[in-house]
Amino acid sequence: MDGRDLVRSVRMVRAVGPAQGLRSLRAAWRRSRADARALPPRGAERARVPGEARDAEPLPGGGVIHFARSSLRVRVAAGGAVFCGWDGAGPEPSYALSGECPAVDPRVVLEPDTEGGWRVVSERVLVVVSRFGAVEVRTPGGAMLRRELPPRWWEPVAEGAEGGPEGDGRCAGAGAARWVQRSEVAADARFFGLGGRSAGPRLRDGVYRLWNTDPGGAFGPGDDPLYLTMPVQLVVADAGTHLVFHDNSWDGRVTLHEGVEGAGSGHDRPGTCELRMDGGPLRYWVVAGTPARVLLGWTALTGAPALPPRWALGYQHARWGFGGADEVRRVVAGYRERGLLLSAVHLDIDHYDGHRVFTVDRERYPDLPGLAGELRAEGVRLVSIVDPAVKAEPGNTVYEGGVAVDAFVRDTQGEVVRGVVWPGESVYPDFTDARVRKWWGALYAERLAQGFAGVWHDMNEPVSFAAFGESTLPRSARHALEGCGGDHREAHNVYGLAMAQAAYEGLCELRPGERPFLFSRSGWAGLQRYGGTWSGDVATGWPGLRASLSLVLGLGLCGVPYSGPDVGGFSAVPSPELYLRWFQLGAYLPLFRTHSALWAGRREPWEFGAEVLEHAQAALRERVRLLPYFVTLGQLARLSGAPYVRPVWWSTPRDRALRDCEDAFLLGDALLVAPIVEAGAVGRAVRLPRGRWYDTATGRAYDGPGRVWVDAPLSRIPVLARAGAVLPVAGADGATKLEVWAPAAGRTGGGLVVPDCGDGWRRPEVERFVSRWEGDRVVVERRDGGPAGYPVRVRGLAGEEAGRATR
Ligand code: GLC
Repeated sequence: MDGRDLVRSVRMVRAVGPAQGLRSLRAAWRRSRADARALPPRGAERARVPGEARDAEPLPGGGVIHFARSSLRVRVAAGGAVFCGWDGAGPEPSYALSGECPAVDPRVVLEPDTEGGWRVVSERVLVVVSRFGAVEVRTPGGAMLRRELPPRWWEPVAEGAEGGPEGDGRCAGAGAARWVQRSEVAADARFFGLGGRSAGPRLRDGVYRLWNTDPGGAFGPGDDPLYLTMPVQLVVADAGTHLVFHDNSWDGRVTLHEGVEGAGSGHDRPGTCELRMDGGPLRYWVVAGTPARVLLGWTALTGAPALPPRWALGYQHARWGFGGADEVRRVVAGYRERGLLLSAVHLDIDHYDGHRVFTVDRERYPDLPGLAGELRAEGVRLVSIVDPAVKAEPGNTVYEGGVAVDAFVRDTQGEVVRGVVWPGESVYPDFTDARVRKWWGALYAERLAQGFAGVWHDMNEPVSFAAFGESTLPRSARHALEGCGGDHREAHNVYGLAMAQAAYEGLCELRPGERPFLFSRSGWAGLQRYGGTWSGDVATGWPGLRASLSLVLGLGLCGVPYSGPDVGGFSAVPSPELYLRWFQLGAYLPLFRTHSALWAGRREPWEFGAEVLEHAQAALRERVRLLPYFVTLGQLARLSGAPYVRPVWWSTPRDRALRDCEDAFLLGDALLVAPIVEAGAVGRAVRLPRGRWYDTATGRAYDGPGRVWVDAPLSRIPVLARAGAVLPVAGADGATKLEVWAPAAGRTGGGLVVPDCGDGWRRPEVERFVSRWEGDRVVVERRDGGPAGYPVRVRGLAGEEAGRATR
């Protein structure tokens, strides 16, 4: 047990009590004994590199290059995504990819390069493979985006056959060889992504682990890894933007070093990335282009984001520790009486009977369906937490049902693995088994019958409380892994993703007419197909507020657009100012939800004094006004992968100053939001992309690119609108109107609107608008001609005198 373990144990005993503390000590012993017994010891290993290229075999979309001791498959898909697989690794199957492997681009050619190498030439990318197996991905014009040095494997001597395993691609994850791959990117490149990282969104020099982890207490910017990691990097440089995804769910480490321009004798030092994986296939995808194109290509590979129902874009209140139904009623009434429009209430584990999943504490909630109906009548939905661990206890129907269908994870001896979570000794469904997903998915019928409209997946890294070592299942625990068989080393990172799949598919079957609403603490590449995520237990404090924005931005760039933090922070009572600033930020994030730990006080806006209440009311009114815009952004995320919340460099990735700007974001195309992230601040510098921007509070115009100072009294955070933008907003009567920000003189603008089409599956049309000056009037019309068809309000007309931005 080290210092970190000790701190964790103390926190845990505080959260779960001494009896659980003791159980988790036993569970930790069990876990470490199981692994000592069942994991193969690391014996003698042999290092291997590809060796020299011998020949190449053209195949549709590229080909296979044979090296002395390995082979490399290069395959370019129709949309331009490049697949590279070493040692016979193929592009399928995978937990990340959605369905069929994309069709190849038939026009791609494989041809010999100079010095014994090979090149794969396609319309969007050029892949150059050197004689010793370095792989360069270049733009068609030849600019280098990424150079992968020849990989290196370490194989157990007993197993290592010359040339490495040539898998059939179906069970590609089964390799035991560790491997490392180093790559170089341009000296000016910046790294983003790797899932939810608290110290981002720009990932500075450091080591980032790929292992979904409950930090075991609230986290701040220094804590890594967190609940939702992904081997997905987005790299932005002058030469272009690219995303690289290593399709491998094993534990790994990414070491990043940003490059330096003009380092040493005037030469650039490239940025470097080293990926070390504990096993699994060496296969990866590269998608290159503008940020928008990259996200489009990424979602084409991994699936379109699920569309949250409109109500899930409203404000939601969660609480760990509602005393019962009456307290829920009181809180909802509190919101109503103060004119605060509440969309949903989330019930945490304390509404369960003894923390048992899919049960209800009948004393505190004697008639949950009745309560749900009452709330529903005033427009408030109920959302239920769902934890994967099932209390192992005869008489518990979920447990007995799971035993009957052999649903739970077993160890190498065939015994069901036990861990400890909120309900005590628990067992874990193996979501990597389609049969188990089906069984689990059907259990949500109980939640629907209780009146819940959405689910909140938690503790699915998965967590087993441990007094020391890792708080999860033994690495040796066995999983079905879709019939391929394997252990927790491979299944761990996809556990939450597969749980989300089980729930999503179950809910679709149970209620085919409604889109499920689901968000999950853990997950992996592809989670967006089933739902969103949230920050997890972010520490109360200004650093936590910043970390929560970093998570939302980073996850969006990894293809998961719907997320948000626990407003106010999870772990302690926030100061009124901190609470307000967090609330004001939350109002512009897709998941807008207050939540906190049992011991961390309340989060209703009126608990923080009259002034905070007044400003929170204003922030919430603005959220409600922007709901049609959020609906549009959700639809656009589904269609294009573009996240609601985008880094400020989204449309101008070559603007280096913007690349380094981490405390502001674009909400869609139209708005730039600059939250207050420091105590006492009543104004802040905002770095603007090029073009004219209006302070939405004062109407004052500024011309970017550059920095401007914008006031931020306690009543608001700075929000700027792009000149020419057309966005849908709700009028006082709830009907959609168009808000238009005057284009700069002689310029035009525009925007997209996707109307709400209910909670079902109907796909609405995208409506396109243009804005322009006509004499001294700003007019808005449909792009294909014709009147706007909505009431229009033009803003920014008084802003001809634009303020100057400084570089
Ligand atoms: C975890 C969740 C948190 C929840 C708590 C109790 O810490 O992250 O949101 O309130 O468990 O269920």
